[in-house]
Parts: sequence; C-alpha cells; structure tokens
Amino acid sequence: MTRPTLRPSLTMNSLSRRRFLRQTTLGSATALSLPTLLPASVFGANAPSQRVAVGHIGVGGQGRGLMDGFLGLPQNQSVAVCDPIQERREAAAQRVEQHYAAAKGQDVYRGCRAYADFRELLARDDLDAVVIASPDHWHVPLALAAVRAGKDVYVEKPLGLSIEQGLALRAAVHLHGAVFQYGTQQRSFNSHCGFACELVRNGYLGELKAVHVVAPNGSTGGRAVPQPVPAGLDYDLWLGPAPVTPYTEDRVFGTGRWFIYDYAIGFIAGWGAHPLDVAHWGYPHIPVEYRGTGRIPTEGLFDTVVDWDVQGRYASGVEFTLKTGTDKTTFVGTDGWVAASRGGISAAPESLLERKLKPDDVRLLRDNHHYRDFLNGVRTRQTPVSDIDSAAQSDFMSHLGDIAVRTGRTIRWDPATETILGDTAAARMTRRAGRAPWAA
Ligand SMILES: NC(=O)c1ccc[n+]([C@@H]2O[C@H](COP(=O)([O-])OP(=O)(O)OC[C@H]3O[C@@H](n4cnc5c(N)ncnc54)[C@H](O)[C@@H]3O)[C@@H](O)[C@H]2O)c1
Repeated sequence: MTRPTLRPSLTMNSLSRRRFLRQTTLGSATALSLPTLLPASVFGANAPSQRVAVGHIGVGGQGRGLMDGFLGLPQNQSVAVCDPIQERREAAAQRVEQHYAAAKGQDVYRGCRAYADFRELLARDDLDAVVIASPDHWHVPLALAAVRAGKDVYVEKPLGLSIEQGLALRAAVHLHGAVFQYGTQQRSFNSHCGFACELVRNGYLGELKAVHVVAPNGSTGGRAVPQPVPAGLDYDLWLGPAPVTPYTEDRVFGTGRWFIYDYAIGFIAGWGAHPLDVAHWGYPHIPVEYRGTGRIPTEGLFDTVVDWDVQGRYASGVEFTLKTGTDKTTFVGTDGWVAASRGGISAAPESLLERKLKPDDVRLLRDNHHYRDFLNGVRTRQTPVSDIDSAAQSDFMSHLGDIAVRTGRTIRWDPATETILGDTAAARMTRRAGRAPWAA
C-alpha cells in the first residue's frame, strides 16, 4: 500500500549538508581521516527537520527489535520499511505509524511507507540512512546498493557471506564516505566489554599471550521436503543472490537462514561475530594462521559448521583459539586475564576489575546507546564505534576459521595483501558466486 509521507522531507539544509560532506569526503583523501567534520552542537535540538530519516530493510525478529530501539530515539525518524514478506512489512509500517501517532497525541499518523523491493526504498531522496537486518546472504548486496545510493548504513552482523564481500563493502564505504555502524552492540550497550578491552589496550594484563574466543554451537537438521511458497512471500526476492532452491519453511521461517551455507556460514560467524568483535576491539589485529576441526552436517538441510575447534596465532606470536561453548572472549596476559561477554565480565586477579584508567590511557567507550551513536555519526560524519575496518577484520576471522575446518589444512593469512597464502583452493573459498543480478 502506498502512503504519502507526512514527515517534513529532509530540509535542503540537511540534504545539502549531507551532499556537501559526502563531496568533501570524496574530494579529499585527508578528510577521510578526520574523526569529526562538524560538531553535533551545530544541529541544535532534535527538530523534525534535523532528525535522521531512516528506512528499515528486513523487519523480521532482529529488524523489529532494532526498529523499536530506533523509534525510541528523538534523533530518529523512521520513514520506510522493507521486507519481501508482506505481513511483516505491513505490520512494521503500522507499528511505526502507531508509535508516531501516540507520540503526537493523534489518532492517526501517516508517514511510513512499506516496500517489498529495497530498490524502491533506496531511490527515495529524502532518506538518510538504512538499517539492514536481512538474512546474512543479503547484508553486503543491500549495503552496497545503499551506500552507492548515498545512504549511511547500520548493518547487522555477520558482515559478508565471503571475505571478498567484506572487502567490497569496506572499499565502498570508504569510497562513498558513508557512515557505517556494525550490529555488534556490545560496544555500546555493554560497557564492561569496552572496559575489558581497555585493560588489554593499556597493558594492564602485562604482555598479551593469548586471545580465546568462544561462541555457541551451530545446529543440525532442517526439513528439506519442498512446500508451496506461502502467500505474501516473494521467495525469489528473499533468495536474491542465493541459489534457487525449492521453498521449505525451515529455510525462511525456521532457523535455516542462520544454518544453511547458501545463506550464512553458521554460528561461527553469526554468533561468533560478537566475541570476535570483542577480540578485535581489545587486540586490533588478525591472526595469520588457522587450523582446526569441526563437522559439516551431511544430513538434513543445515550444512554449516558445528563443533568447531580452531587454533591459530597472530604475527606477534599471541595464541588465538575459536571454539564452541558459552559466548566469551578471554584475553590472557603475563599479569592476569580478563573475560568478557554481553553477559558479564570476570578477571584474575579480581583487582583488575577495580582498575581506574589514567587520563592518558586509551579509551574505547563512546555512547552507551549503539543506535544513537550511529545516528549521531550520520549527523556529524563522525565514525561510529563499530566501524567498517574492524567489522571486516573480525568477520574475516570467522571465514578463515571456517575455511580451515572445511579444508582440513592450516590456513595462512597475509594481513598486508589480505589473501590466503600458498593454497589456491582455499583462496578460492574467499569468494562466492552470487545469482545475477544480485551478486555483490
Ligand atoms: N546483533 C544481534 O544481536 C543479532 C541478533 C539476532 C539476529 N541478528 C542478525 O540479524 C539478521 C536478521 O536475523 P533475524 O533472526 O531477524 O532473521 P529473520 O528471518 O527473522 O528476519 C530477516 C528479515 O529480512 C527479510 N528479507 C529477506 N530478504 C530481504 C530483502 N531483499 N530486502 C528486505 N528484507 C529482506 C526477511 O523476509 C525477514 O523478514 C541476521 O543477519 C542475524 O545474524 C543480529
């Protein structure tokens, strides 16, 4: 259903500001390295014309949660939603309109349009940013299209279906001067994760010896018996770059979207993204060697890795492990260890947890609200806390671990050229062909 947008469209001021900033960024290599081009204060209060006009692409479980979070922020104005599932997009648009009606004390508010096809949403001139919470196989194609259309992007984790996709998105974000925030919300909502990383970065563990990353196991199963495509689902659009396969409920509405290799590489990345993100935040390097074991299910629909047990090392000699279990990142140094997850923090000696940082210590924490940090980035052009460079590195760790398990060989990664060394077959696994015209 087409609804007119009643939100005052983004003012010329705001639009020209965005275009000016983008052109400045594109035109000047040095501008890319400036952390802040304009202070937030120049925008005054959260006047409607100064709110960030946001479109929500993918409004399933996580997308709806994100939408609710964005709706709660005065800097945000949600103006569009998009999903190939009709019921979901219509319910999401209704939710947005009910929210603004209640906020304005009105019976009715019209101003959020629902789209099946993201290309129509991205064609809107009055849209500043998009929040992408599609299944993983769509993350990079959608984010690339958005960035090329001049939008800023909040992208759910994991980043890409392949290392090549992550490289392509990183290049596009920099080329277009887009503001990017990765959906690794522990960088904002869980300040103890940042504190753990600050302990590491400032040397309070002594010399770092090991980084241990644990993420919950994947899943097996899934029913492969073809079923009729339900009314209201544009299955071809849902599949997008993925191969065409007969519809089954488990692909789209079950957990197949997380555990089928056509759409994801499994929880080694899907959940691993969170503890790997903490690992990279605390120790901003990528391991150069990966070897390990794991199981690729051969029965049922799900065919992403389970029971992975990957060992590796960084160029510095620091040990790296990536295993299944309870979500956690542990940094071990000569003077103690600290372990953090979204669930909490622990350390030995415990006195580490009482450590007060010195004025000149490295500080990592920014805003304690991940979505607000993104919206402020859109307005100020300041890089949000979960930037594309770090997102790509932590995502590559899960891909390299997965490739080590799938090949059964030791994988050597060259961080300078961002290639796998000495293994042509493994190097091919850093790329994935996508179905035209969606391939990234
Ligand atoms: N950060 C976190 O803590 C967290 C938690 C859960 C999920 N996630 C991530 O969020 C993403 C979505 O997961 P989910 O569990 O909500 O899945 P979901 O299947 O419930 O939702 C995804 C939605 O995207 C829609 N979609 C598919 N193709 C699309 C397209 N071309 N354009 C627009 N929409 C499209 C689907 O129809 C679906 O409604 C995943 O990448 C997942 O890893 C992150």
